[in-house]
Amino acid sequence: MAIVYGDRAHNVHLTGTGRFLPPGVITNGELSRMVDTSDEWIVSHTGIRTRHIARGLSVTDMAVGAARAALECAGLAPQDIGVVVATTVTPERRLPSLACDVQANLGIANAFCVDINASCTGFIYAVDIVARYLATGGAKHALVVSAEKLTDIMDFTDRTTCILFGDGAGAAVFTASDEPGGLLGSYLAARGDGGAALRCRWDGCIEMDGHEVFRFAVRALPEAVGKAMALSGRDLSELAYAIPHQANRRIIDAAMRRCGIPPDKVAVTVDRHGNTSSASIPIALDELNRDGRLRPGDLVVLVGFGAGLTYGAVVLEVSD
Ligand code: UT7
Repeated sequence: MAIVYGDRAHNVHLTGTGRFLPPGVITNGELSRMVDTSDEWIVSHTGIRTRHIARGLSVTDMAVGAARAALECAGLAPQDIGVVVATTVTPERRLPSLACDVQANLGIANAFCVDINASCTGFIYAVDIVARYLATGGAKHALVVSAEKLTDIMDFTDRTTCILFGDGAGAAVFTASDEPGGLLGSYLAARGDGGAALRCRWDGCIEMDGHEVFRFAVRALPEAVGKAMALSGRDLSELAYAIPHQANRRIIDAAMRRCGIPPDKVAVTVDRHGNTSSASIPIALDELNRDGRLRPGDLVVLVGFGAGLTYGAVVLEVSD
């Protein structure tokens, strides 16, 4: 589905970001003592050196930490938020939703709350959904929070998956306003017939065909970037940053090369965090923001892919 935010009543701006990374870390050396692997293999095939693990913390704890930071960054009180959308593939339980847990923990009294699962593309899907809601006057402020405790669904005897994933949460606040800029274009897509390439098996642990997912990703990311950029009406040469889903350094490099985006414009956190599924993009966004690397007027593309198979991209201009 492709949308130009042209018929909107309001523009939608990014007004706050936050992240929560649990203090626990697993190194490649530690994984090498658990499965038949090595630091050399992991770094050369994935670019990953460390990933966080939420020992003694729940996915809700991480989501609340990231959401609180994003609200503070936006300068908003919890009761200012009218929509909470949470994304996760590792909810603590089937119900109530993670979004309602975040609401309860932070006192976001005036919001409706819902979870969506688009796997690693969850944040991109959520941003597009809340943007349309805000653009048509449904609320003034929305909170998107993406939190994942992937170590809960890891088979730590399977070297082809357990080296890749980590835990963490990222969040962003979006605000409807009549100022120009903000979200300019978005493109969401899915290929459900490819779902067998990446899924949870009978015991709930992740299994995947790494080659198939790799091939999909290096085609899907350029397609999504191209479509979202075209819909935004802006040129690739104007981009300040691309923030791709952080799955594998080789996927990021190959896909961004195909897009024609130079390496110095590409955000990379996979070396330190591994793959945190839907949390990876908002975590990287918050790192750029808090490091002072995002300036008003900067054009940024966020682009993801994941199980489903799902993919999509969002183009935004950083607000004052
Ligand atoms: O959010 C999306 C999540 N999924 C992904 O992003 C996955 C995308 N795919 C990938 O990132 C890569 O395909 C992997 C990192 C999973 C694998 O890298 P690869 O370069 O495609 O390696 P490979 O599967 O071709 O395996 C090469 C060899 C094999 O041994 P043989 O058959 O050549 O003897 C594997 O058994 O490496 C072996 N191998 C390992 N060796 C040491 C696989 N995993 C490991 C390991 N340590 N952890």
